[in-house]
Amino acid sequence: MDLMQAARDVWGNAYAPYSRFKVGAAIRTRSGKVYVGVNVENVAYPEGTCAEAGAIAAMCAAGETEIAEVAVIADSPEPVPCCGGCRQKLVEFGGPEVVVTMGTIDGKSRQMTLAEILPGRFDASHMDKAWDKAGEGV
Ligand code: THU
Repeated sequence: MDLMQAARDVWGNAYAPYSRFKVGAAIRTRSGKVYVGVNVENVAYPEGTCAEAGAIAAMCAAGETEIAEVAVIADSPEPVPCCGGCRQKLVEFGGPEVVVTMGTIDGKSRQMTLAEILPGRFDASHMDKAWDKAGEGV
């Protein structure tokens, strides 16, 4: 299955009455399965969630945690880069080599790896000293 097509197929179901900016996302896992998500906004604006977060939640609910490929689509003049929070969410489940394809409804697209999308990522190794102290009552 074409991953961008999967994102496009779900894009129309985004719930975005406040921004009017619909986003669709699709994740292929290393098992080959595809999980999709849309942005879901709320009248209490900060309670909205991004399309990427929805796809990640669907993946985890299905018992999967290894991202192989990502596609994101919106009806924008240029391909939409994932927001900062979604970059951190994606690197939780994907290695630096994972390709993210960002597309527009009228067919423009751009590809970046997770390493390019989030250089200097915060990861679990940064907490090693804290974890060394686990059990010391710290
Ligand atoms: N949005 C996403 O779903 N993903 C992104 O990567 C960028 C932004 C959504 C959030 C909000 O519902 C709307 O786009 C406008 O920011």
